[in-house]
Amino acid sequence: MRLRDAVDVPMELRGLVPNSFDVIGSREGAVVVVEIPSELEQYKYEIAKALIRLNKNVKSVVRRVGARRGAFRLYETEVLIPGPTEVMHRELGYRLLIDPTKVFFSPRDQSDRLDLSLMVGRNESIAYLFAGAGPYAFAILKRQPDVSSIHAVELNPDAVIYLERNVKLNKVRGKVIPIEDDARHFCNVVKQGFNRVIMTLPLGAGEYLIDALSCIAKGGIIHFYHTGREENPWSEAESIVLNKCIEANVNCNIIGRRIVREYAPYVYKIRMDIKIS
Ligand SMILES: C[S@@+](CC[C@H](N)C(=O)[O-])C[C@H]1O[C@@H](n2cnc3c(N)ncnc32)[C@H](O)[C@@H]1O
Repeated sequence: MRLRDAVDVPMELRGLVPNSFDVIGSREGAVVVVEIPSELEQYKYEIAKALIRLNKNVKSVVRRVGARRGAFRLYETEVLIPGPTEVMHRELGYRLLIDPTKVFFSPRDQSDRLDLSLMVGRNESIAYLFAGAGPYAFAILKRQPDVSSIHAVELNPDAVIYLERNVKLNKVRGKVIPIEDDARHFCNVVKQGFNRVIMTLPLGAGEYLIDALSCIAKGGIIHFYHTGREENPWSEAESIVLNKCIEANVNCNIIGRRIVREYAPYVYKIRMDIKIS
């Protein structure tokens, strides 16, 4: 049953009842993160109760207010049904302990994680910048356990705590190295040419591209995330990549393009795969 068929709101407001929402967690317990427009303010608890009725594993419901904000890319949230917000999420064969009110996480990126993980070869050294609680690292190790190392760099101290716990949980100590640091600082001090750099910061990765270019090996690949408007999702990202590669005096070839998912109305989150030669 759809959410809008499960709530008692006036006919003229039914079209505003959200079609989609994020269920994060598993059978052991889940939290729903939902966006409810202001026109439905007086029905928000009704909607939250319906979400619990429709998803029997859900123990708590939080409403996200506004867009993601700040360096840590978090929503402001309003608790509609109180309960635990730290949950065990399962996807693609690994587990992720996460509290979406403290750490960025989107289950909608799962297919991108799978797609990226299938490109990784044996013995690669990887810098995973903007790592959050680490989902891309675990997706990669599930499919390519023979990578050399994944340095997972994250600024939000809460996210680093979850990252460390997830490294233990998924038994990948030694393979994933959690680092609480600013991505720029990390790239500038590390004296290593990585085979692959993952830049999962669609609003802002461009500001760090020069730094990523300074720590990638020749022949390496940078996965660059950005947003793009529906009519030409690639144009802005392409011009950023081109300009930064000229500035850094390196040859870059865009070898892959992927629409990750819808980001906002008429705007996509995109990924560009850039090979450095
Ligand atoms: C869009 S989230 C992606 C998180 C994770 N990779 C995922 O896919 O779930 C971006 C992350 O980058 C972190 N971040 C933002 N600026 C940063 C910086 N300068 N250095 C390191 N991490 C940063 C944020 O705290 C946030 O967790």
